Amino acid sequence: MDRPFADSAQPFRFADLRRSSDDATAELRDGLLAQPARIPPKYFYDELGSHLFAAICSLPEYPLTRSEARLVAERGGEIAGAAGRGRLLIDLGAGDCSKAERLFPLLAPAGYVALDISADFLRSALGRLRQRFPDLPMSGVALDFTLGLGLPEGLLAPDAAPRLWFYPGSSIGNFAPEAACAFLAHIAEACAAHPAGGALLIGVDLVKDKAALDAAYDDALGVTAAFNLNALNHVNRLLPADFDVADWRHVAFFDTAAGRIEMHLEARRAVDVNLGGQARRFAAGERIHTEDSYKWSPDGFAALLAQAGFAGSRLWQDDEGGFALFLAWPG
Ligand code: AVJ
Repeated sequence: MDRPFADSAQPFRFADLRRSSDDATAELRDGLLAQPARIPPKYFYDELGSHLFAAICSLPEYPLTRSEARLVAERGGEIAGAAGRGRLLIDLGAGDCSKAERLFPLLAPAGYVALDISADFLRSALGRLRQRFPDLPMSGVALDFTLGLGLPEGLLAPDAAPRLWFYPGSSIGNFAPEAACAFLAHIAEACAAHPAGGALLIGVDLVKDKAALDAAYDDALGVTAAFNLNALNHVNRLLPADFDVADWRHVAFFDTAAGRIEMHLEARRAVDVNLGGQARRFAAGERIHTEDSYKWSPDGFAALLAQAGFAGSRLWQDDEGGFALFLAWPG
């Protein structure tokens, strides 16, 4: 078809299914008044936070995104052969959509559905994607999919295509093992429930050397520190609160026994913060827990998929053994 102007591309459907701001306010206030205080990691992703995360993916210390991209580039033919072409690709945590875009030439999806918590960021990413793939049916859904995967069927087009759920980047690492199992079980159920079937393609960062993991979450440029601290700016707008970023320092480390990265914000001095009308004092050195990022062994993650109800899985691992892509199917 003749397309002289990029604007002639079909607009994409977009639905904002995020909960009310009251829910976010209550969740943040409860978390920040708790002992120890916490901010759930989804609050990293305001507009700036989404950009900072994209910058993290280019850091020399943070190999996850490059390893995953290299696996797709080098083993893509096999992966597509196993996953199948012409699927409806459902992207969990699409971000800038670059991870899914790398799959398009391999998978020739019948449609693309991008889910993300960051509504405006997702909308612009889909706008750019639409210019490059004017004929692919696509829709965007802004939602916190950790609360459930119930999606309005109208957005899942074409409806008849088998589904390929895509959960890249090792975002599954944000769930503790039990919660990861429950979340994967929801995906397994959704795969099994669709008449044409479905499968899951998921990226998983593997347990490796502690020094390498520590550096990946505490880079020399301080981009991860900025990403972590920016959660306070986001909370200031949402609650509203009056955190001063200068009062806090970024702390991140791999806990070998627990098999996870922990990220915290640590008070540089005693600070009093107004949390949407309620005051809290943080002592010098007190921490706010902002993220866990679990790392898995290949066997451990295969067992988790089985426990979640997937009947089978296979994996592709990069040469250094630092990252794996798993394809899992329900039966
Ligand atoms: C988006 C959850 C996969 O855990 O590596 C990157 C987020 N945090 N650097 C990760 C993150 C600090 C990232 N995930």
